[in-house]
Amino acid sequence: MKTKRIMIVEDEGITAMSIKNSLEETGYTVSSVVSTGEEAVKKSGEDRPDLVLMDIVLNGQMDGIEAARHIQSRFNIPVVYLTAYSDDKMIDRVRETTPFGYIIKPFDERELRVAVEIALYKHDIERKLIESERELRKHREQLSKLVEERTSELRSSYDLLKEEINDRRVAEAETIRAGQLAALGELAAGVAHEINNPINGIMNYAQLLLNKSIPDSSEQDIAARIIKESDRIAHIVKSLLSFAREGKEEKNPVRIQDIMSDTLGLTETQLKKDSIKIEIDIPVNLPRINAQPQQLEQVFLNIISNARYALNQKYPGGHKNKILEIRCKEIMIDKKPYVRLSFNDRGAGIPEALLGKVMNPFYSSKPSNVGTGLGLSISHSIIKNHGGKLVIDSVEGEFTKVIIDVPVTN
Ligand SMILES: Nc1ncnc2c1ncn2[C@@H]1O[C@H](COP(=O)(O)OP(=O)(O)OP(=O)(O)O)[C@@H](O)[C@H]1O
Ligand SMILES: [Mg+2]
Repeated sequence: MKTKRIMIVEDEGITAMSIKNSLEETGYTVSSVVSTGEEAVKKSGEDRPDLVLMDIVLNGQMDGIEAARHIQSRFNIPVVYLTAYSDDKMIDRVRETTPFGYIIKPFDERELRVAVEIALYKHDIERKLIESERELRKHREQLSKLVEERTSELRSSYDLLKEEINDRRVAEAETIRAGQLAALGELAAGVAHEINNPINGIMNYAQLLLNKSIPDSSEQDIAARIIKESDRIAHIVKSLLSFAREGKEEKNPVRIQDIMSDTLGLTETQLKKDSIKIEIDIPVNLPRINAQPQQLEQVFLNIISNARYALNQKYPGGHKNKILEIRCKEIMIDKKPYVRLSFNDRGAGIPEALLGKVMNPFYSSKPSNVGTGLGLSISHSIIKNHGGKLVIDSVEGEFTKVIIDVPVTN
């Protein structure tokens, strides 16, 4: 073990020498002997002894207590006082400097040795305590940093997982819907012919009855209803057939604005009659898309017809918010150009619980003589067959937004 180095601060030469001898005999090294407070502070900084033995009454301006205060606070060196004085006032001042020991003169060698040993031991323990506290604080900080990192890692994996589950749910619903549509298409193709012939027969016979019945009689009314309902059957069969046909028609580069203006030509009168305002924003320089125009027209008609119904539901008369917005722009998805078309109505909206169902075939919230529930599912599969995507966003009572993304022709 390294021998401990002790500094002696004592203005009486003989006492200082005797302390020095006594310490050296015990095995300590005396780093320096000084006689004033100022010198003591200066030497402590230079020599960095392990302990200072400090007389209180010294030559010079600074007494031992003042010097001890500097030495302890600036260099963290323990101080043991040696003095003949011990009045209450002095002891109070001494206590303030939290000394490591106090020896009253005159003292014998044994007392000196014990005081020095205890002071060194106490200081050592204190140093170790501070070190382990520092160590502990460091570990605690590392630990909380680690916990924070892990928590945020966990949180982001949780988010990823949630996203993945959601994606999967969407993909599953998509697969189920595709399956349903394919099955419907096949079924429709199989039975359409079988149904169309008898329906035509029924319509013809009903027409005969209508012609032969007395005007405004109940027979004439019934005949008219038979024709209307048969027409509805024929219409459903025709709609179902579009599932079977899809993807087989040839597609050509077309301009969205041309298809849109044809569609609006068909619906404008209806919309005007219902006091629905249309706001259209389609830039003239949009790139063309590869499409089958009749099919896209069918999609637009379906969506506009739904918006019309929802707006009439919310505002049976006229209203300043009875607006259908149709916007179009070019966007990039995965670095590929698409045309995005959005239809936004501020009508009745769709309850959140039903949002996932509206594209299912035959789902309709409308009375059975109004909706078949095929409009959106047909539209959805037409857009899919054009390599695009149709999504619906809606808040009940607020708005419905149908967004269609179709790839640009390369
Ligand atoms: N713009 C909209 N605002 C509010 N609800 C809508 C809107 N579009 C669709 N819906 C809801 O989605 C359902 C399904 O729409 P879809 O077009 O597939 O069938 P439908 O309109 O009921 O019948 P069809 O179009 O076959 O005549 C509607 O019944 C309606 O509840
Ligand atoms: Mg519809």
